[in-house]
Amino acid sequence: MLKESMSRMGRHQFCSVLIFLILLTLSLNLTGWAWTTPDCIIADSLLFPNLSYYIPFCTLVPGLHLLASCSNVKNINQTLERVPKNTEVLCLQGMVPTLPANAFGRFHSLQLLRLQLGTTNITSRTFQGLDQLQYIFFEHHAPCCLSLFLPPNCLESLRSLSSLSFQGYCLTYSQSIYLPTSLRHLTLRNGCLTKLQELHRLFPDLLLSASSAPNTKPRAPFLEMLDLSYNLQLKQAGVRDLYGLTLHSLILDGTPLRALDLSSGLLHLHFLSLVGTGIEKLPASVTGYSELRALDLGKNQIQNILENRDFPGYKALEFLSLHDNHLQSLPIRFLRTLPQLQKLNLSVNNLGPILEIPEGLFSTNLKVLDLSHNQLCDVPHGAFSFLSQLQELRLSGNNISSLSNESLQGLRWLRTLDLSWNQIKVLKPGWLSHLPALTTLNLLGTSLERISGRQLQGPKMLRHLQLGSSPMLDIYPPWLPMLLSLEIQAETCIEFMIPSGEPFLLLENLTLETSVLLLKPDTTTIHFPSLRRLTLRGYSFTFSTSQLQRFFSQQLPVLEHLFIWCDNSNAIDLHLFGMPRLRVLELGYLNFFYESSTMKLEVLLKEVPQLQVLALSHMNLRNLSVSSFKSLQVLKLLLFNSERTLEMNSNFQELIPQMPQYVYFSDVTFTCQCETSWLESWATRAPNTFVYGLEKSICMANASDYSKTLLFSFHATNCPHSTEFWGFLTSFTLLLLVIILPLVSCHKWSWLHHLWTLFHTCWWKLCGHRLRGQFNYDVFISYCEEDQAWVLEELVPVLEKAPPEGEGLRLCLPDRDFGIGNDRMESMIASMGKSRAMLCVLTGQALASPWCNLELRLATYHLVAKPGTTRLLLLFLEPLNRQRLHSYHRLSRWLQKEDYFDLSQGKVEWKTFCEQLKRQLRKAGQERD
Ligand SMILES: *[C@@H]1O[C@H](CO)[C@@H](O)[C@H](O)[C@H]1NC(C)=O
Ligand SMILES: *[C@@H]1O[C@H](CO)[C@@H](O)[C@H](O)[C@H]1NC(C)=O
Ligand SMILES: *[C@@H]1O[C@H](CO)[C@@H](O)[C@H](O)[C@H]1NC(C)=O
Ligand SMILES: *[C@@H]1O[C@H](CO)[C@@H](O)[C@H](O)[C@H]1NC(C)=O
Ligand SMILES: *[C@@H]1O[C@H](CO)[C@@H](O)[C@H](O)[C@H]1NC(C)=O
Ligand SMILES: *[C@@H]1O[C@H](CO)[C@@H](O)[C@H](O)[C@H]1NC(C)=O
Repeated sequence: MLKESMSRMGRHQFCSVLIFLILLTLSLNLTGWAWTTPDCIIADSLLFPNLSYYIPFCTLVPGLHLLASCSNVKNINQTLERVPKNTEVLCLQGMVPTLPANAFGRFHSLQLLRLQLGTTNITSRTFQGLDQLQYIFFEHHAPCCLSLFLPPNCLESLRSLSSLSFQGYCLTYSQSIYLPTSLRHLTLRNGCLTKLQELHRLFPDLLLSASSAPNTKPRAPFLEMLDLSYNLQLKQAGVRDLYGLTLHSLILDGTPLRALDLSSGLLHLHFLSLVGTGIEKLPASVTGYSELRALDLGKNQIQNILENRDFPGYKALEFLSLHDNHLQSLPIRFLRTLPQLQKLNLSVNNLGPILEIPEGLFSTNLKVLDLSHNQLCDVPHGAFSFLSQLQELRLSGNNISSLSNESLQGLRWLRTLDLSWNQIKVLKPGWLSHLPALTTLNLLGTSLERISGRQLQGPKMLRHLQLGSSPMLDIYPPWLPMLLSLEIQAETCIEFMIPSGEPFLLLENLTLETSVLLLKPDTTTIHFPSLRRLTLRGYSFTFSTSQLQRFFSQQLPVLEHLFIWCDNSNAIDLHLFGMPRLRVLELGYLNFFYESSTMKLEVLLKEVPQLQVLALSHMNLRNLSVSSFKSLQVLKLLLFNSERTLEMNSNFQELIPQMPQYVYFSDVTFTCQCETSWLESWATRAPNTFVYGLEKSICMANASDYSKTLLFSFHATNCPHSTEFWGFLTSFTLLLLVIILPLVSCHKWSWLHHLWTLFHTCWWKLCGHRLRGQFNYDVFISYCEEDQAWVLEELVPVLEKAPPEGEGLRLCLPDRDFGIGNDRMESMIASMGKSRAMLCVLTGQALASPWCNLELRLATYHLVAKPGTTRLLLLFLEPLNRQRLHSYHRLSRWLQKEDYFDLSQGKVEWKTFCEQLKRQLRKAGQERD
């Protein structure tokens, strides 16, 4: 049906699609219908990857973005009840003695489960129904170890499981645990393994037991990675312990187990990691390593590889890390035996002060070389000239003061050069001339005071540049027009000596970290036509925003992400203009309290109506009012961080129907006042809004109140319960229900039509269809079945009767004017859009009936969401307590006195009524034009 109407609507197709999508989204949301759970964060990391910076939550795996992270879990069922069903990542921290059968059965899309639940009883059916689960972690972070018992078949149902991890647990009493065939990574970290044989008892599938007869061979899964790091008692590894295990990676970091003890059991090992095991020598020669491609020996005590007379046969080695050892010279003989080496990490050793690389030292395949933090002072001419394939060279954190083109000779394919945090004082002209393929250059932390584009000439492909110096840096032309990302840091000042032309035509990411930004001459402007992401850190607004505005005075037509983190406590005025595509705005330390923060926010946000994410940190906001946010129609995430004595005006409630899906309060204290008592109901019951952080928020009665009263306990003890919010909430809940019910083929079709209409008029306006004066109907009459008789017999005849006796108004009555069939919806859309006003007939009965009540609530919602589109008129057939009406519908703000018609006094004065009605209709017509 939808399809049909869409095709018929032709040019309105776009609108229809939008409406359809909205309905679809809402209906999909219903499946993940949830309200905030105390102590849980629900987040969508696609929307705002930086959320973890403000609110710590469990780490994510790339590709997964919908997550729920709950702490202090005590009652698992209660907690999980409110976690959205479609969550992909679930992290639980707390004390849960038992994980019952089918504990996670609701979460069909769950892919990652991280459990920090102390000692917990797991049944064989606990993980039932988790077909999609790929990662499961059991973690305990206090000192080793807790005991965990796993029933043998508890993982059987996890058909997609690829990664299983235990950290801080002893599995002493478990045995014969079945591992799904999909398993690739198995981790037993920080546990109490003493022998590798124990693995055999735990996971008989994993190893081909040396003793088992050849033909009773169990299934041998192809495990890619086994991580046994930090099993501090793992001292013995017998020759045959891992015999038969087909394994690509073995990680033994932090164990007392030396690779020396490992034997030829691991025939196909590709990666061996022995970080922090106290090794002083290279693992001895064993034939078992002939296939080894990667070896990580970081954080050990290796001083001199020359001592090893007998080099192991690492013929296939491609990656070697000797990061953080005690090397004082390059292990020349050893490196010569590695013909396949592609990546060598020698960072944090003592190779300095002069780097000498003899010819033929490295394999000609070497692509990545890390020599950071080696106290190198001098890079002699041609030092790298034998590394013709090198693509990445890291020399960060050394003591290099100058580099010439001769030093970097021969690096024809070098793409990345990291020279950050050296003592670079001069860059000789043409020093990059031998690096034609360079794309990424890091010069943060230099001692340069000025840098000119001329010094960076040579590489034609330079795209990513980082420059830094303290305390100030002058940037001279000519500039590099092909740059895609640029970061500049200087403590006090960055000054751009502006070139002519368009120096930053392609720049997408710009990060400036400094107090003051200057342009010289200050009448010039710079264009950033492609800028998508602008980060300003440490900016001092003491030097006024006018500087900033001069700097970014042009349109930033494609800017999507703006991050401003100031460095002073003075009040500021910030204006965001010419950023029509801004999607994410992060502001920190912009002290807004100086005048009226509400006003400032309002002014600021009015200019960025497309905003989806707003994160405000240390803003000294003090007061929040609905007016600040009303221009933000598509806001999805709102975050307040580190705000003190925040007040939220009670009118904030009006925003609820449009409240963003994710609202986070991180380290926010409130003022103790009853005006905010709606917050609790909202936070715990708000439909489809995930509110985080209120239950822990405290409030302060005054500046010297250090009693740390919890906000909600203040409300509970001091504020009378208000039904207001509940009324509003129920209506909103019903609204969502009504959207869904027809879609799941409920028979209340008329409600769908009404709703459809409302949405349509909404979008109609939004999509730019304006119906200038083209009204087919004067009044769309909405009434309850109970009042139908009165409407049809009394009201309609008077209004419809032709003048002079009657008014001759064109009325639209859904039940009368539309036939049954497919066209009904379309005629509904059209007629609602073509009615001057909507008249609701109200009686006590109507208000008491949820369905009747709903229409009015929908209209209210409509008024709140899009004031000025339809005129809403209320007709009272019975004396009603308006107070009650107000409190339920919050209409007072939107309706004027003339919008009420009171016909409850028995005898109806039709003449007066009609006069009044016509006056309102005229007004409605004018407003809509
Ligand atoms: C994002 O988070 C990081 C820390 O994780 C922080 O340093 C940074 O300032 C934040 N903002 C942006 C725009 O990167
Ligand atoms: C786990 O279950 C066993 C029996 O099923 C019971 O004896 C034990 O007390 C339980 N442990 C906890 C922590 O509830
Ligand atoms: C070298 O190893 C250290 C420590 O693991 C790491 O931080 C660094 O990124 C590595 N260097 C390269 C080029 O991968
Ligand atoms: C770095 O070089 C300077 C001279 O350029 C010297 O004074 C300083 O001691 C060196 N630092 C280290 C750690 O070698
Ligand atoms: C390298 O720099 C020297 C001056 O230091 C210069 O004479 C020479 O032409 C430069 N080489 C190239 C290829 O630019
Ligand atoms: C800009 O920054 C974002 C976020 O850090 C990154 O994902 C993107 O690749 C960057 N773009 C360029 C051209 O460097």
